[in-house]
Amino acid sequence: MRLVVIVGARPNFIKVAPLLPALEAAGHQVSLIHTGQHYSAAMSDELFCELGIRQPDANFGVGSGSHAVQTAAVLTAFDGWLDQHECDVVMVIGDVNSTVACALVAAKRNIRVAHVEAGLRSADRSMPEEINRIVTDALSHWLFTPSADADENLLAEGVSPDRIFRVGNIMVDALLANLCRVNPTDVLARFGLAKPFGLVTLHRPALVDDAALLAAVLGELALVSGDLPLLFPCHPRTAERIEELGFVAPPSLKIVGPTSYLETIALQSQAAVVLTDSGGIQEETTCLGVPCLTFRDNTERPITVSQGTNRVIGMNPAAIMPAVAAVLAGDVRHSARPDLWDGQTAARIAAAMVSDLDSTRLVGSRK
Ligand code: UD1
Repeated sequence: MRLVVIVGARPNFIKVAPLLPALEAAGHQVSLIHTGQHYSAAMSDELFCELGIRQPDANFGVGSGSHAVQTAAVLTAFDGWLDQHECDVVMVIGDVNSTVACALVAAKRNIRVAHVEAGLRSADRSMPEEINRIVTDALSHWLFTPSADADENLLAEGVSPDRIFRVGNIMVDALLANLCRVNPTDVLARFGLAKPFGLVTLHRPALVDDAALLAAVLGELALVSGDLPLLFPCHPRTAERIEELGFVAPPSLKIVGPTSYLETIALQSQAAVVLTDSGGIQEETTCLGVPCLTFRDNTERPITVSQGTNRVIGMNPAAIMPAVAAVLAGDVRHSARPDLWDGQTAARIAAAMVSDLDSTRLVGSRK
């Protein structure tokens, strides 16, 4: 099968690293497209290099902009690319703007869409990613889900069960394949850290684009760091906003640029607690058995709460200090790695696409 795999943003790059070799090993002819949604060295090139992802066959270089501008740029660029290239299936990953844009282009051309990480729902349509998830799933032919709750969400939305494939969590494939490649002691030394310490990652617009809320969170983090030193690797969006605020962090709160993937998983594995608004980090901490506090009002990954180490504390700065104190006092959730979060998800996706071929007429193959 001629497959086009789309990546655009940092979490996509991590997930495609195990996926590409598995798809190719299953005999698929794979083209890799980078939309250019994330473009800076730390968010893109360095990650490709670190994870050994081959160079994309095309990079659209769409860059930043409003959601409409960014999505429209991907739509136009991918439509043009498909004018020139043949493909049977477009595989999209996750919930970023590049995901929904390419799914839409493919569906309108009657090219089948495969969605990796389908079925996740926060039930919060104020999140741009929730809109992207709903639309992408509605347009997809193959829905590859990480957990039973995702299957249930899709069934409740009327998706036919024969299009839902529960394959496990692709992020975990990357995590398990790479943990052994990094020496946590070296990473801690690089950042001048000793245990115990806490790790913070916050980037969602609902928080960082609200100056008053971000200032209150930074004030709380400064206080918490008096008891537990904190490392805060910043997404470029967050760094920009912190600079605009003119916030001066105490030495116990280290604010640094984006850490590499290997550094990030090593830091998580050693942290006493992780405070985050990232989806992937909720999953990674569950796998690592490290307590996670999610600074959001909801999560599209409820299994990390029901079976993992995650606690959703709400977008309330005053909740941070007591939640961290509770973890340090030993109030830690039991963690079981969810079913199929075993490092074999990429292989299951590749196999499902091969075995589903017999029952599938490829109406979408076109030039
Ligand atoms: C995107 C995803 C989000 C994901 C996140 C991971 C959408 C709607 N959101 O959010 O789901 O959790 O990626 O990182 O697709 N910027 C840079 N360099 C870069 C990329 C971005 O400086 O390489 C800055 C720009 O100022 C840009 C801002 O970050 O305006 C936001 O980037 P954007 O791609 O719009 O969304 P993210 O916030 O990164």
